[in-house]
Amino acid sequence: MAILWLLLFYISPALSENSYDAFLNCLSLYSPNSTVSEILYSQSSVNYTDLLNSTIQNLRFTSQNTTKPILILTPTNQEQIQASVSCCKNYGLSIRVRSGGHDYEGLSYRSVNSSQFVMLDLTNLRSIHISAHRGTAWVQSGATIGELYYKISMKNSTLAFPAGTCPTVCAGGQFSGGGIGTLTRKYGLSVDNILDAKIIDSNGKILDRAAMGEDLFWAIRGGGGGSFGIVLSWKLRLVQVPEIVSIFIINRTLDQGAIGLIYKWQYVAFEMEPDMFLEADIEPNINGTEPGAVFQSLYLGRCTDMLTYMQVHFPELGVGTSDCREMSWIQSAVYFARFGDADPKILLDRGLQPKSFNKCTSDYVIDPIPFPAWEGIFDWFRSNHSGLIYMNSHGGVMSEIPESDTPYPHRGRVLYNIQYLVGSKEASDIEAYLGWIQGLRTSMTYLVSTNPRRAYVNFRDLDLGRNDGGQNISYENARVWGERYFKDNFKRLALVKGEVDPENFFWHEQSIPPLIVEGKNY
Ligand SMILES: Cc1cc2nc3c(=O)[nH]c(=O)nc-3n(C[C@H](O)[C@H](O)[C@H](O)COP(=O)(O)OP(=O)(O)OC[C@H]3O[C@@H](n4cnc5c(N)ncnc54)[C@H](O)[C@@H]3O)c2cc1C
Ligand SMILES: *[C@@H]1O[C@H](CO)[C@@H](O)[C@H](O)[C@H]1NC(C)=O
Ligand SMILES: *[C@@H]1O[C@H](CO)[C@@H](O)[C@H](O)[C@H]1NC(C)=O
Ligand SMILES: *[C@@H]1O[C@H](CO)[C@@H](O)[C@H](O)[C@H]1NC(C)=O
Ligand SMILES: *[C@@H]1O[C@H](CO)[C@@H](O)[C@H](O)[C@H]1NC(C)=O
Ligand SMILES: *[C@@H]1O[C@H](CO)[C@@H](O)[C@H](O)[C@H]1NC(C)=O
Ligand SMILES: *[C@@H]1O[C@H](CO)[C@@H](O)[C@H](O)[C@H]1NC(C)=O
Ligand SMILES: *[C@@H]1O[C@H](CO)[C@@H](O)[C@H](O)[C@H]1NC(C)=O
Ligand SMILES: *[C@@H]1O[C@H](CO)[C@@H](O)[C@H](O)[C@H]1NC(C)=O
Ligand SMILES: *[C@@H]1O[C@H](CO)[C@@H](O)[C@H](O)[C@H]1NC(C)=O
Ligand SMILES: *[C@@H]1O[C@H](CO)[C@@H](O)[C@H](O)[C@H]1NC(C)=O
Repeated sequence: MAILWLLLFYISPALSENSYDAFLNCLSLYSPNSTVSEILYSQSSVNYTDLLNSTIQNLRFTSQNTTKPILILTPTNQEQIQASVSCCKNYGLSIRVRSGGHDYEGLSYRSVNSSQFVMLDLTNLRSIHISAHRGTAWVQSGATIGELYYKISMKNSTLAFPAGTCPTVCAGGQFSGGGIGTLTRKYGLSVDNILDAKIIDSNGKILDRAAMGEDLFWAIRGGGGGSFGIVLSWKLRLVQVPEIVSIFIINRTLDQGAIGLIYKWQYVAFEMEPDMFLEADIEPNINGTEPGAVFQSLYLGRCTDMLTYMQVHFPELGVGTSDCREMSWIQSAVYFARFGDADPKILLDRGLQPKSFNKCTSDYVIDPIPFPAWEGIFDWFRSNHSGLIYMNSHGGVMSEIPESDTPYPHRGRVLYNIQYLVGSKEASDIEAYLGWIQGLRTSMTYLVSTNPRRAYVNFRDLDLGRNDGGQNISYENARVWGERYFKDNFKRLALVKGEVDPENFFWHEQSIPPLIVEGKNY
């Protein structure tokens, strides 16, 4: 070790000139059994650009002026990740970890403030081991949600896992921040169903739940990715779904009473039985010209029961026999990804979803938004066909799980989450779109939750605030955005961070800052 330190000390000053060779040497020392040259790319490597670009989902961050990693690593085993952590620390480099690359602000592969950082791309670490008879699975962070859903269904079609509707999002990022989807009202978030995990900490050590302790295990289940370590894999509790589930997708124009339906939806969707999930969206041109409402539903049962239920609880929506479709749960996942009757095998396609220049932000609603305000919201969509909003109803078990059970605090009386989204194929449109989403968000200020105005960390938005001071970041400054994502859980997250990574090695523009207090007081 002494020789290693000497060697590193000797070569470190040359890093910017010769970073590739120096880093390669370091990796080889720490990971002697691997051919590390095959997994390390510098900016001048032929494959660097393609590799960086491969899972950048938000094309805004493919532009020339995006701060790029000085090196990219594509580890194929955990030893290489441990070596990367050690070498980054030795050279004072930051690290970014990318699983699926869906982070709306691109923080898994870019830095806002120029800084020297290395990106670890976990694409090669995507194994999924399902134990159907035990009802559990181990999934590596680089596996997509689509792969997970598909592989579970192949083992047993009445098992599933509660996670999001976008099949190309990866376990690594999504489970780090929550995981909202069609089974949320019945079974909670992804993080409510995680039993164990393996993480590489800032010392390069591999820890499972027993070794990391309950505080860190709590923090990594919803505290947001990139703050506490690199999660290698997750142990999941699978959940039961019926052999046949029922779905409908219904559009309603303004003439068909879209505004009144959305208004009523706020009251009924929250109260519905947990087997019923009913999402409401406002989309910009539902019939070719006008904005309208889209209602998408998953019912864990047959159509006859669903139709009866809707007739009793939400007759105004007018769901008819011809609207309801029965199918397997895995086919419903294809439907919610908006690929209709396509073969569920498409969930294995890691390039399934088109990329776009986009921007996202979020809100939570606790008191129903009044009818006249909805008229104003529809006017906003009518004047300008730019974006859309998805409203994901909570309630069910989400209301029963205590706010402090996981870092995700939006439980109890929270009626629903609003996701605002603009996306375009053209870079030139995006500036106007940013104006649209900012304007809409401002106009929503007094209609949504306050003190704090809540937001969902997986719908990351740097406009809420960010760590500007490099690695020397302040807890007080970060409360501005941190309490919006985590409410009172933010302080506990910062205390855990102070325990496990006091030097703030795992840092990004919205990472949890370490809070170090004399004598533990929590
Ligand atoms: C099209 C689209 C649809 C979406 N739909 C949903 C939905 O239905 N429900 C929902 O809840 N969310 C949804 N999201 C949000 C999504 O859950 C988050 O963006 C999630 O963080 C993406 O995970 P990723 O691994 O693909 O992204 P990445 O960009 O790779 O990672 C996101 C963050 O997690 C960190 N991270 C990644 N891997 C690890 C790891 N192994 N260990 C530690 N930190 C890590 C990254 O550094 C980064 O900070 C959607 C996003 C998009 C773009
Ligand atoms: C590397 O390989 C050697 C010989 O096969 C083995 O003894 C050693 O344990 C390996 N080291 C690691 C870190 O896997
Ligand atoms: C790297 O690029 C070369 C040439 O374009 C290509 O043949 C090769 O398959 C690429 N390797 C990887 C790992 O992408
Ligand atoms: C990155 O990928 C996108 C689409 O996936 C493409 O439009 C863009 O040209 C690529 N950029 C580079 C530099 O390869
Ligand atoms: C970076 O490029 C994007 C897209 O080309 C542009 O919108 C943005 O303003 C640029 N940012 C800076 C800091 O130049
Ligand atoms: C599938 O899982 C269900 C639980 O949802 C279980 O009752 C059933 O026995 C399993 N079927 C098979 C074939 O393993
Ligand atoms: C779309 O809906 C609006 C409002 O309901 C209606 O006025 C318009 O005629 C519809 N357009 C088409 C093409 O159906
Ligand atoms: C409903 O609206 C969505 C989104 O605007 C659109 O893609 C879909 O084709 C519409 N469906 C019907 C049946 O009109
Ligand atoms: C749409 O919004 C953009 C950005 O706010 C604005 O520039 C444009 O004028 C708007 N268009 C209409 C028709 O209101
Ligand atoms: C990061 O960027 C912000 C805004 O551009 C700036 O105020 C801040 O000083 C920067 N911090 C560092 C460490 O460069
Ligand atoms: C970090 O921030 C503290 C308080 O703002 C300041 O006193 C200290 O000098 C900073 N350290 C560095 C290395 O910037």
